[in-house]
Amino acid sequence: MDKQGLRTIAQRLMAGDKGLLAMDESIPTANKRFEEAGIPQTEEYRRKYRELIVTTPKLGECISGAILFSETTKQATADGTPFIEILEHAGIIPGIKLDEGAKDMPAFPNEKLTEGLDGLRERLMDYAALGLKFAKWRAVITIGDGTPTDGSIYANAYALAHYAALCQEAGLVPIVEPEVLMDGNHTIERCFEVTQRVLHIVFEVLIKQRVYLEGMILKPNMVLSGTDASVQADIDQVADLTVQCLLRCVPAAVPGVAFLSGGQAAQDASAHLNAMHVKYKNELPWALTFSFARAVQQPAMDHWKGKDENVAVAQQLLYKRLSINNAARRGEYSAELEG
Ligand code: 13P
Repeated sequence: MDKQGLRTIAQRLMAGDKGLLAMDESIPTANKRFEEAGIPQTEEYRRKYRELIVTTPKLGECISGAILFSETTKQATADGTPFIEILEHAGIIPGIKLDEGAKDMPAFPNEKLTEGLDGLRERLMDYAALGLKFAKWRAVITIGDGTPTDGSIYANAYALAHYAALCQEAGLVPIVEPEVLMDGNHTIERCFEVTQRVLHIVFEVLIKQRVYLEGMILKPNMVLSGTDASVQADIDQVADLTVQCLLRCVPAAVPGVAFLSGGQAAQDASAHLNAMHVKYKNELPWALTFSFARAVQQPAMDHWKGKDENVAVAQQLLYKRLSINNAARRGEYSAELEG
């Protein structure tokens, strides 16, 4: 294992006030979002949309890395320049989503286990040859009546750890993403309890499986009230409980934590990240940043609608959301930035 190489990539990904852009929606997820936005659900429209993203002016000022879906790694702009090349030119490190989705877990009703380990070593060799330097694997944990069970948490943690170890063997930095979903009517305290248990188990298993902590990044959920909860925690409470949970669970050896947005409103996600920095800047042993998909892409996708004449404004909307999150990482976000 090239430990120094992994550390260097992880540190570059977490540098300054930048974040990561998740643009790795699978075909079914991209189709669902396109359908909602009135965009045709074809390979060509996915290519056009990804071209819009990677050619956004000044994108490299805002993000250090972009997570791609497998299809995108082989696509190019209309004039034939591979997307990976465009990103590298902009100083953005290209990464790849490696999991093949969360599937129903046998014998565990309402719980999911993420698949994609078969043939992973070989896929990693191909992706390393394409110039991809980091990867992502998402596990999904559901809060419900009697869930999550330890059976599903451990099964997902072992998959994450095996994926992470294979990535490090191939020289790619693994992003380990155990997402506790927002869905449900649970309190923020219950989300705290579940997220804490999940992260404890994930790190227990990562350490057992000899994952090199200095060469990985954690991508967790923020600690939030359930979407349908009658009482919604305020910004300070989200910041307090999220930071407390991470400080209890994430070893200081890990170079960075980059949040998913999970379906939060874009402005909420930015305000939460900002409050964590305003309140706890000097207490955080790791970099703390964003790796959002919906919370940065949604305004751009809604404006684009699949039309060429809307590309320039859609790109401005994407840049705006990303630069607002850069401000949040500096603890300089304010509602005025929203305009
Ligand atoms: P959201 O920010 O839309 O939750 O997506 C992040 C992600 O990469 C999920 O795997």
